[in-house]
Amino acid sequence: MKNPLDITDRETLFRLLNSQQKATVFVDEIEMQQEILTRVRGQDHVVEDVVKLVRQQYAKVTRNRPVANILFLGPTGTGKTEMAKAMAGYLYGDESHMLRFDCSEFSGPEGKTRLIGTPTGYVGADKGGQLTRPVLNNPKKLILFDEIEKAFSGVFDLFLSMMGDGRLTEQGSGRVADLTQSIIILTSNAEYEAIAKIQEQVTDAYEQIDAIKKHLRDCKTFRPEILGRFDRIYVFKPLPQEVLAEIAAIKTIALAKQFDLQLDWVDPQLMAEALLASFKVAEFGARELERIVDSMFAEAMIQARQDGVKCIALDRSADGQIVVRASETAALASSAMT
Ligand SMILES: Nc1ncnc2c1ncn2[C@@H]1O[C@H](COP(=O)(O)OP(=O)(O)O)[C@@H](O)[C@H]1O
Ligand SMILES: [Mg+2]
Repeated sequence: MKNPLDITDRETLFRLLNSQQKATVFVDEIEMQQEILTRVRGQDHVVEDVVKLVRQQYAKVTRNRPVANILFLGPTGTGKTEMAKAMAGYLYGDESHMLRFDCSEFSGPEGKTRLIGTPTGYVGADKGGQLTRPVLNNPKKLILFDEIEKAFSGVFDLFLSMMGDGRLTEQGSGRVADLTQSIIILTSNAEYEAIAKIQEQVTDAYEQIDAIKKHLRDCKTFRPEILGRFDRIYVFKPLPQEVLAEIAAIKTIALAKQFDLQLDWVDPQLMAEALLASFKVAEFGARELERIVDSMFAEAMIQARQDGVKCIALDRSADGQIVVRASETAALASSAMT
């Protein structure tokens, strides 16, 4: 007989991941990969492996540590945060199951109480922690700590406990948050230049990760016991121009969607201009592309909305203006209808 849980459709996936129930969850590897790839470009080496890891670990009914402890390394603006968001988006249907903590806000000792709550007798003790309370409510979460090199050392003690035995005790209530059903992702831009050099020198994948770990330990970026708790360490690559152009196109399509427009075509010259503008404000990475695309095209898209157009193409007119026209496909579709 078919195991009632052995169903990989999205509805079942969401139901299982949204319930408190401990159960085997079968993740559809190909579908998850494809969905992440619609959002994250140029990091295929990470996508393939991370999806496999999540699938294998979620298929276990019980664990005595988190589903996965993952470290994303690499230069800023290369898709580390975006990858975590895309994973949460696929697994849980939306990003509300992702708890994201920006570690630059945890540079002092108060970071610890924000995460696990205030001790009994202090103001706010009944509120619980910003990490522990949501996990107590539903333990299936993707927990993201961004730019962890900026965190206060006391917060690292929490990482050790979370990643080691998958438990965190909330101060105040004394309740124990179960992290054995959560995925924990830490990201860091630290030492990326040195790491890039190691990647050039050491070609074997295992030896490379080992050399990177040694470097991070020796330069005291991370304590050795933290490094030892990661199931995987992935290094994000700098993004070549053609990938940045693809991302600019993804961002333009997403912007059009926000205006309820379907973007069918965009002049490649306009994408090249977006890249050029991006290189001017940021050394590399795609961080500024969203803002740039927004400032280039928002007005034209609003105009299209006002003109009642649904499907658009973006062009540059002879006098240098950005113009938006009703797209050919839409024209064809409407002429086919008449
Ligand atoms: N590889 C990528 N694929 C798609 N979008 C990306 C990629 N890298 C960066 N971006 C875009 O650039 C912005 C910053 O990316 P982010 O993931 O926050 O970078 P970081 O590596 O610093 O965490 C986001 O809007 C994101 O969508
Ligand atoms: Mg980030």
